[in-house]
Amino acid sequence: MHRRFFLFVLYCILSLLTITSATLGKNTTVAKTRYTSKKLPCKFHELRPQDVDVVGAMGDSITAGNGAEATHMIGILREFRGLSWSAGGDNTLETSITLPNILKKFNPQVKGYSTGTDLKTRDLWFNAAIAGARSSEIPGQAWELIGRMKNDSQRTNFENDWKVVTIFIGINDLCALDRDPVGASPESYIKTLEEGLDILHAELPRTLVNLVEIWDIHLLQQVAHGYGSTRACRLAQAAECNYVSTANDTEIEVIKAVNDEYQRLTEELIATGKYDTENDFTVVIQPFIKDTVLPCTENGEVDSTYFAVDCFHFSTKAQALAGMNLWNNMLEPVGSKTTVWGIKDLKCPTKDNPYIYTNRNSNQQSSNAIINR
Ligand SMILES: *[C@@H]1O[C@H](CO)[C@@H](O)[C@H](O)[C@H]1NC(C)=O
Ligand SMILES: *[C@@H]1O[C@H](CO)[C@@H](O)[C@H](O)[C@H]1NC(C)=O
Ligand SMILES: *[C@@H]1O[C@H](CO)[C@@H](O)[C@H](O)[C@H]1NC(C)=O
Repeated sequence: MHRRFFLFVLYCILSLLTITSATLGKNTTVAKTRYTSKKLPCKFHELRPQDVDVVGAMGDSITAGNGAEATHMIGILREFRGLSWSAGGDNTLETSITLPNILKKFNPQVKGYSTGTDLKTRDLWFNAAIAGARSSEIPGQAWELIGRMKNDSQRTNFENDWKVVTIFIGINDLCALDRDPVGASPESYIKTLEEGLDILHAELPRTLVNLVEIWDIHLLQQVAHGYGSTRACRLAQAAECNYVSTANDTEIEVIKAVNDEYQRLTEELIATGKYDTENDFTVVIQPFIKDTVLPCTENGEVDSTYFAVDCFHFSTKAQALAGMNLWNNMLEPVGSKTTVWGIKDLKCPTKDNPYIYTNRNSNQQSSNAIINR
């Protein structure tokens, strides 16, 4: 880790810990607060971080954590599930910044996060992401996730627990744009994504879905030539996502247009309000990486150390950055969420605005979830 990044992280943790203990008191208070909340007729626009009992995720190798800590190319095949930005729960927030580890500060009993590395030692639990997955696999992952949750009474009380499920999908579709122009078309992308969300909507009670918009994939070419990149990483990237990695200017324009269309159709789908029909289910778009800006070094060079040794997957640094920015997005009202991920402080809920922002409550809660400075 860069020293500055590390210091920043430490600072965030300290602020979050301070706020957590100031607002929630000791862990007994946390338990009491949760209990009180559960006795209320729960409505989604009143979901607070400490009310989240279960986390789950769907997606591809970014969510599976492939190669996050790999030091050699072969390590890309290893799944660092426990470090996954949206679903990993290895260690604590002090050492591994992930959404579940942030949530643990509010509810130490949160469950469902994946742990470990490798086929032998990892535990997937409710991280249903599969390396290489495309949007067409989202309906299947939805059923898989529901099945696992229903099956696992140790980890979840299916009907009563409040769940946060994060979905991030589409990179592999864009990589396949030349080989499979129909399957990777924006129409196909949104159709299967919608199908998956429909399944969750019909089957999962008490669930908030974080739908994370995909990033500007054409920037991969800059990653291949940034600080810390190698010839081997360029070769690996070209093997994993050949079309994008080797695209010429004309093709880049095509990729950009399709990329934008994925995002636009996703926003259009959620704006229909079709997932806001119940009091206990919603889908919220989290756009923190929509207007992608690659992290840079102090010299202004693209910092490829945020990517794994293949210049394609996320390294632990980007996993942490994504985890933080996802969390911050959850504490920003719909309509004024940050669309650029950056190294920023972790936000905290306030006494006046204690709830995770949803499509419905965003007009009711004011927009001043504080930023710790
Ligand atoms: C509170 O935290 C302490 C130390 O982390 C732990 O030993 C104890 O079991 C916790 N109590 C509850 C109610 O979670
Ligand atoms: C649920 O449990 C049953 C019995 O243990 C098992 O056969 C099935 O594959 C499980 N389903 C899922 C989705 O894990
Ligand atoms: C880009 O590549 C395509 C397909 O290989 C080719 O048809 C086109 O002429 C190229 N455009 C430029 C500007 O090189």
